[in-house]
Amino acid sequence: MTSVRVLHGVNLDTLGRRDPAHYGNLTLPELEERVEGFARDLGLDASFAQTNHEGEYCELVHRAGESSAGLVLNPGAWTHYSYAIRDALEVAALPAVEVHLSAVDDREEWRRRSVIADLCVGRVQGRGVDGYRDALDLLRKAVAR
Ligand code: DQA
Repeated sequence: MTSVRVLHGVNLDTLGRRDPAHYGNLTLPELEERVEGFARDLGLDASFAQTNHEGEYCELVHRAGESSAGLVLNPGAWTHYSYAIRDALEVAALPAVEVHLSAVDDREEWRRRSVIADLCVGRVQGRGVDGYRDALDLLRKAVAR
């Protein structure tokens, strides 16, 4: 099985308490259980991490290649401005897919900007937890290439 790393960024640990209209009702452990199932169905072995600390997220990205062939990234608000995470992704040099639970392109102007999108092989937004299935499928195809 191909191993992939799913990295959740800032505030994603509070899922279940955030606006359900944007983020749904699942807690992060519940979401990860669903995503683990999606991965298994696609022949992938997913591992997960979440942090609210930007430097730690960078280190998770740096080290991802030790255990996995690709990344599914939901960096939360860091997506919109963290050049540190962008640089870390360049260092990792792994295929990556950006995913967002909410429809970031249809929300506030500042959420439309992603500083990692052009380093990613795909971007999924606004599909809730099912978006992770789409992201894993895109990643599976990129890793097989
Ligand atoms: C998010 C969208 C971001 O704009 C927001 O800051 C988040 C979550 C999403 O999954 O929809 O924290 O990445």
